[in-house]
Amino acid sequence: MFLKGNPCIVIFVVLFQNVFGETREEAKKELKLVLGYPLDAVSNFTEMATEHGYVSEQHSVTTEDGYILTMFRISKGKKCKKPIRKPPVLLMHGLLMSSDSFMDSGPEAGLAYLISDLCYDLWAPNIRGNYYSKRHIKLDPSKDHEFWDFSNFEFGYYDIPASINYIINYTKSDKINYIGYSQGGSTFFIMNSERPEYNSKIGVGILLEPGSRHYYTRSQLFRWLGDTYQLALPTLYQAGLYEALPLGGFVQEAASFLCKDYALADFACKFALGLIDSFHPGSIKTETVRVLFGHFPAGTSVKNMAWYGQALNVDEFQNFDYGATGNLQQYGTSQPPAFNLSLVEVPVVIIHGRHDYLTSPADVEWVTSKLPNVLEQFYVEDPMWNHFDITYSQFTGRSILGKIKEYLDEFSA
Ligand SMILES: *[C@@H]1O[C@H](CO)[C@@H](O)[C@H](O)[C@H]1NC(C)=O
Ligand SMILES: *[C@@H]1O[C@H](CO)[C@@H](O)[C@H](O)[C@H]1NC(C)=O
Ligand SMILES: *[C@@H]1O[C@H](CO)[C@@H](O)[C@H](O)[C@H]1NC(C)=O
Repeated sequence: MFLKGNPCIVIFVVLFQNVFGETREEAKKELKLVLGYPLDAVSNFTEMATEHGYVSEQHSVTTEDGYILTMFRISKGKKCKKPIRKPPVLLMHGLLMSSDSFMDSGPEAGLAYLISDLCYDLWAPNIRGNYYSKRHIKLDPSKDHEFWDFSNFEFGYYDIPASINYIINYTKSDKINYIGYSQGGSTFFIMNSERPEYNSKIGVGILLEPGSRHYYTRSQLFRWLGDTYQLALPTLYQAGLYEALPLGGFVQEAASFLCKDYALADFACKFALGLIDSFHPGSIKTETVRVLFGHFPAGTSVKNMAWYGQALNVDEFQNFDYGATGNLQQYGTSQPPAFNLSLVEVPVVIIHGRHDYLTSPADVEWVTSKLPNVLEQFYVEDPMWNHFDITYSQFTGRSILGKIKEYLDEFSA
């Protein structure tokens, strides 16, 4: 009893883990389990997959600019009883998340499980800067600030193309089907507009609550966060702070420590998620809340957060704004260039909810209207469906999986 929930123990854990050198991660995990963290909250992708009876693999992908990304694969779902279908499916996570976000709601609702159960060869990459992809062939993320010089543009220009090329080469397939959530949507648009040759490497793009411009974002908390990072960027840089909201940082450690408690998870932590997005009572199971803060926030660059701050305030989906002088140096124009959405020629399906306060219906409809090859724009029937429901709702099976399956089936052999 004394052990559970005593903050002194956490301080002890932090001191203790540093003594252990090599076995540090393992010791930290053991102690967290003693403290009452749910197993999935302290497990990585392959550990969760194994725990729930799924066969998984871990891969390393190196980008053209030297970042080393971790990508996971579930090669065969537990409930899949038929041959694996082709092509492979790439499932891309959102801002401050990782591949693990698609497993936090467990095998009954997590999209990584559900899609592999449909006999698709599932690949889940991790974008540069999150806890799985904080490596580089030359740069050290803890010493070299150049490591953190990226925003949405680099994800779309380098990380997703490298992940696609890796999957295509590894599976000897000529295409992939793409499912992207939130930032996994905006970066899909960036890739296909900045490197149009990637359009032909994708059968269909299924975009869940996709990001683009964020002009009509209703979440006041996210607006505050974006504005804060944007305004504070020079100060943070001067202070030598380049990384935002990492796993193992204060926000994540405190959130996962508090939210592992059932009563807090059920009330305060659900309330906090509602404040970041919108309220959808009954959608997220308390057990999922206990788990998800073990993997969220997953870390990104301060620059990427500042990009969101900019995107909240301009009526356009555009590259990072360095100010007039900086833009002239960087782009040769005083305004940052907009992404040319008419070059995104790949067939896409847009799936979204009416109660999403992060990528609001007005912005999703705006980007949809700019895309030349939209097969369907689908509103989830539940009027309360919001942003976090994609990863954390217990109702993904009945609300979105049918539509995802319909288009995967159409574009698969
Ligand atoms: C995930 O956990 C397994 C088992 O502990 C370990 O072998 C693997 O290296 C971990 N993967 C990552 C990317 O941390
Ligand atoms: C393609 O895959 C093979 C093994 O399957 C590997 O040896 C080779 O290095 C890969 N090429 C690239 C460009 O990743
Ligand atoms: C966007 O791409 C289309 C198709 O190539 C082209 O016609 C158009 O001029 C481009 N728009 C801009 C602003 O560059």
